[in-house]
Amino acid sequence: MDNAEMKRGIVIEDDWPGYSLELFTYPEHYHEDIESVYIPHGVINDRVERLARYVMDDFGDNIMVLCVLKGGYKFCSDLVEFIKVLGRNSNKYLETRVEFIRLKSYLNDQSTEELHIIGSRDLSFLRGKSVLIVEAIVDTGKTMKALLQHVETFEPKMVKVAGLLVKRVPNMAEDLTDYVGFEIPNHFVVGYALDYNEYFRDLNHICVISETGKMKYKV
Ligand code: HPA
Ligand code: MG
Repeated sequence: MDNAEMKRGIVIEDDWPGYSLELFTYPEHYHEDIESVYIPHGVINDRVERLARYVMDDFGDNIMVLCVLKGGYKFCSDLVEFIKVLGRNSNKYLETRVEFIRLKSYLNDQSTEELHIIGSRDLSFLRGKSVLIVEAIVDTGKTMKALLQHVETFEPKMVKVAGLLVKRVPNMAEDLTDYVGFEIPNHFVVGYALDYNEYFRDLNHICVISETGKMKYKV
């Protein structure tokens, strides 16, 4: 397996305009709110299947999945499903447990200073476990670094990070994410559970939001 491919994922270049909306279906109520289909749902699905294979190759017989809500819920549920399916179809069945953690650091399309861990029970069950943190987007890595430090205090046996999207930003945190779905330019994207002020989670493709959309759902 090529390590660079795992670490960088499918690289989407700066000049990728996305697919025209007319080529796909999407909820009609978002008609004016998105520019293009940036990553179609089918491509996301196929890439998540591949990530499940990397994970299976690295983990022993059980995984404690820590899903970062809310944006990570689609990715996490699809990833865990693929891990189970691949396990059933091979001799390696991984026992998976899923726990949830909720963080909040974005308002509109801007990152706010603080990281808030707003929904999580005591994480002491992570002690001695092989942990997979599942996160939708990693950009500067500030949030992920803070979360990793927090998780490490519970002394897990190992911790890996799966990020569906890693953004190419200045000071990008290259080494935080072990399994990357896609490396994307620094655009604000929505869909596949990623939101803009709680909108667009019901869109199955990953799309670029339009100026109209930003205005319409601004808080
Ligand atoms: N979209 C949605 N949520 C996010 C993003 C994004 O591009 N970056 C950080 N949180
Ligand atoms: Mg959000």
